[in-house]
Amino acid sequence: MSGTVAVVGGGVIGLSIAWRAAQAGWTVTVYDPRVGSGASWVAGGMLAPLSEGWPGEDAVLTVGAASLDRWPDFGAELERATGETLFTSQSSMTVALDGADAADLRTVADWLDGRGYHLDLLTRPQVRALEPALAPTIRLGLLAEAEFAVDNRALVRALRSAGEAAGVRFVAEAVTDPDGLAADRVVVAAGTASARLRPGLPVRPVKGEVLRLRHRPGVAPAPSRTIRASVHGRPVYLVPRGNGLVVGATQHESGEDTAVTVAGVRDLILDAQALMPSLGEYELHETTAGLRPMSPDNLPILGRVSEKIVVAAGHGRNGILLTPLSADAVVAELSGSPLPEAEACKPERFGTAATDTRMRMG
Ligand code: GLY
Repeated sequence: MSGTVAVVGGGVIGLSIAWRAAQAGWTVTVYDPRVGSGASWVAGGMLAPLSEGWPGEDAVLTVGAASLDRWPDFGAELERATGETLFTSQSSMTVALDGADAADLRTVADWLDGRGYHLDLLTRPQVRALEPALAPTIRLGLLAEAEFAVDNRALVRALRSAGEAAGVRFVAEAVTDPDGLAADRVVVAAGTASARLRPGLPVRPVKGEVLRLRHRPGVAPAPSRTIRASVHGRPVYLVPRGNGLVVGATQHESGEDTAVTVAGVRDLILDAQALMPSLGEYELHETTAGLRPMSPDNLPILGRVSEKIVVAAGHGRNGILLTPLSADAVVAELSGSPLPEAEACKPERFGTAATDTRMRMG
């Protein structure tokens, strides 16, 4: 392809689109005052479309699984191109602390089985044998061998460097009028800011607080795989990261607020310690908060909204997971042949608000 593309937003979604579009022959410029500083920087990096699935959410499962399938080749290509190490664990395990959680795990396992994904349910001794750091009170585990995790910050670095090597230009400026940019096509991939740039786009912020912990000498090692659970009804996960763990994440609908609160940190520590009792001995290295760009149906919004503008927004809790699929979908859209696997993600599903009338009628 030839022509110019402006990408508004330098998170993992915008960066991956820029990289792939440059590889496809477009002349690409990324606009972002602080590349990779938003939700992409805060994220935990777990890829869990199967074990986070729930009966009725078939489209979310299908789209997430399609992106998970792309991740091994996408990540390997980036690692080769940049020398970064992206993969931080090879599987995930969801654990149940009480009878209701165990019933939920069985429900998910049965539902996934019916869709061609077999995940093993593990007994208490099997869970402890695989992950000795976990609490002996855990009743049941659901092992997802294919659900690995990615170092989100290494991913930001790798995408930026691979983009630069492919010829992507970076402009450290905020954009207020995407239509006014001098480019043949503009991709709006600005996380929660996308709703300001494209009024009517149904993307809302959901704050998440995240901790980064470091292992200390003499303390039991962290789990080797991602561990997920619900504790007192609150989701919590532990993602292996180098010499430590990422612990996430709270969920608050509080506008653009990104303050890390005492209560948020307290809840995360208490909930994570219920899974892994030795966690209190780790160093509390960093606390951060970011804004997830949520869509109404938990699917991303990928596609054209006007002659000039393509959006890649609304990735919610799954931005890292959905990075390869989003890049493929947007580059396919730019070349005029939309990706069939991203059909459920079209902006038109939200009716009149997000797309130009001309587009809707055409
Ligand atoms: N990616 C998990 C979360 O948003 O908490």
